[in-house]
Amino acid sequence: MLKYIFPEQASTFATRVDPMYYFLVIFSALVCVGIGGLIIYFAVRYRKIEGENRPSKALHSIALELTWTVIPGIGGIAIFAWGALLYNDFANAPEGALEIDVVGKQWMWKVQHANGMREVNDLHVPVGRPVKITMTSQDVLHDYYIPAFRVKHDVVPGKFTSIWFEATKTGEYHLFCAEYCGTEHSLMGGTVYVMEPEDYAQWLEGGPKTSPQESGQFLFEQRGCVTCHSGASGARGPNLMGVYGSTVTLGSGDEVVADEEYLRESIMQPALRVVDGFSPLMPSFSNQLTEEDVMDLVAYIKSLSAEEGAE
Ligand code: CUA
Repeated sequence: MLKYIFPEQASTFATRVDPMYYFLVIFSALVCVGIGGLIIYFAVRYRKIEGENRPSKALHSIALELTWTVIPGIGGIAIFAWGALLYNDFANAPEGALEIDVVGKQWMWKVQHANGMREVNDLHVPVGRPVKITMTSQDVLHDYYIPAFRVKHDVVPGKFTSIWFEATKTGEYHLFCAEYCGTEHSLMGGTVYVMEPEDYAQWLEGGPKTSPQESGQFLFEQRGCVTCHSGASGARGPNLMGVYGSTVTLGSGDEVVADEEYLRESIMQPALRVVDGFSPLMPSFSNQLTEEDVMDLVAYIKSLSAEEGAE
């Protein structure tokens, strides 16, 4: 019975999220019953009775008030710290995670793996390896949700969001859209297949041979990005070699880490945050590229950093 309410634990997060969830439920129940019980008890015990003398003047005790303020205060901060540490791990994918792109649209999930293998709604991943999913939406707000992994995140039009997880056992698990997004919202989901690494590698071979990087490189040349981002000194656009993951200084003097979201923004709304020393010459590509194109371009720009790091 319980397994229908609480899904299987199939990721490294599941065994960390569940204890906190159970603790909060039980703790809240105890506090609720404790306070509610005392209210009822005091109401009956000290009710107004004819002839009974009940002075209404409350006693004042600094020690008592400090106790019931400080102890729950420390408890509250401890619970916050517990949640914050867990959230911090959830929000930062480890280096070297397997990268998979997901685009949500009414009403399907389009998935692209690192070698270009595509699938719709389903998701194939290897067991025992961190997987980072970079997501965006082509239309409205969606939400990528894999209950057995205890991961869930909004998928937002106009920006990238991401989740990561490490599956701990092979099998098939449900995948849902967890944000009401129109008529067929309830059908927007599928199955996550967690496979042995060899099986996953074999499954990947069944796909096309054009990786997101290669598609991105093709677009980079075909759309003329390379004209300004030539890498030469004096070029009209910044050199993109090694830019991913680095800190760049903007014209305003602010610094920004060039993550996926910044790269995306710089393609779609280039004038927003221009790198110091360059003019806002670049046109917006927001009506010219599909979300898949942008994912591919970002994959290509990221690969420029990986290559440099390998040298
Ligand atoms: Cu997409 Cu609900």
